Amino acid sequence: MRLGILTSGGDCAGLNAVIRAVTLRAVHGYGFEVYGLHEATHGLLQRPVAATLLSPDSVKGILHQGGTILRTTNRGNPFAYPGPDGSTRDRSQEIVEGYRELGLDALIGVGGDGSLAILRRLARQGGWNLVGIPKTIDNDLGHTEQSVGFSSAVTVATEALDRLHVTAASHNRVMVLEVMGRDAGHIALTAGIAGGADVILIPEIQHAMDKVCAKIEERRRSGRNFSLVVVAESVRSDGVTRTYTDAHGQSRYGGIGQAIAQEIAGCTGAETRVTVLGHVQRGGSPVPLDRVIASAFGVAAVDLVAQKRFDRVVGWRARQVIDVPLDEACAAFKAVDPGDPLVRTARGLGIAFGD
Ligand code: F6P
Repeated sequence: MRLGILTSGGDCAGLNAVIRAVTLRAVHGYGFEVYGLHEATHGLLQRPVAATLLSPDSVKGILHQGGTILRTTNRGNPFAYPGPDGSTRDRSQEIVEGYRELGLDALIGVGGDGSLAILRRLARQGGWNLVGIPKTIDNDLGHTEQSVGFSSAVTVATEALDRLHVTAASHNRVMVLEVMGRDAGHIALTAGIAGGADVILIPEIQHAMDKVCAKIEERRRSGRNFSLVVVAESVRSDGVTRTYTDAHGQSRYGGIGQAIAQEIAGCTGAETRVTVLGHVQRGGSPVPLDRVIASAFGVAAVDLVAQKRFDRVVGWRARQVIDVPLDEACAAFKAVDPGDPLVRTARGLGIAFGD
């Protein structure tokens, strides 16, 4: 059996732990050959296919390393592949043939919702045997309680709040921390509780600025002359999200932290400062929970391949690895439920959502 593995979409901490676990389980457990495909599906476009034979030796020492030794991309959708002149064309058939060219019997794809949906489409087109592993700092895949990378991102955001806390208190400032999460507020909510935020703004709970400012004033009246505000990147202000267009013409979230800070300064007179955490949340060493989940997912995904149970994605529920059909995983976007126990916890602590 020749097994391929690729990492696709935005990177996160824990991808190397997945690659290591897949390799160890495949080689030691089943005697499979494992090929690591370079840069998501881009490796399958090249001839010869760009891939490296992985072995227990070659994955030594990568468990704790951030990033992905296979590299990745969140650009270059095979069905609308961008050309140098800005036009797009369908290159899916070349990628599908790359799988055959390398003689793969199965592929493990590590990705978020977008990548898994693309891989599923390619698998259908090419008759690939595919198993998925969920990774995304956004934690927005509905079939799993945790995706690889989420806990590490939350840890970075929490550490940032710990640091902001002392400088906010020293200067009597309102510190606004803008965190990632794309269309979901999981990072903001979880780190906000863990880091002792006073206000958490997430896209799932509509805020009003007068309520945000009232919370800051209330703290002042009680003698606490500083506040910590966590804002998820896709929060709306005046009904619109803050985005910018990057050099490749792609729209990206960014700027809501600054907008919220200005409004707070305007209505409270407080001195405000903004920190945009950005890709710091994706890099660095994975925290232990991400290493454990990544390892459990890697082992379970290879076991699914060995059992010839394809077209499935592993997930994490109640401290166990489960698996569900790819279709189900791709269809289930998970936003923060306003009735979520963590939202109740935050409210119980007196954290304001501005609603
Ligand atoms: O999906 C992961 C994520 O980090 C989001 O939280 C963020 O909006 C986006 O990717 C950033 O993408 P890029 O790496 O292309 O800037």
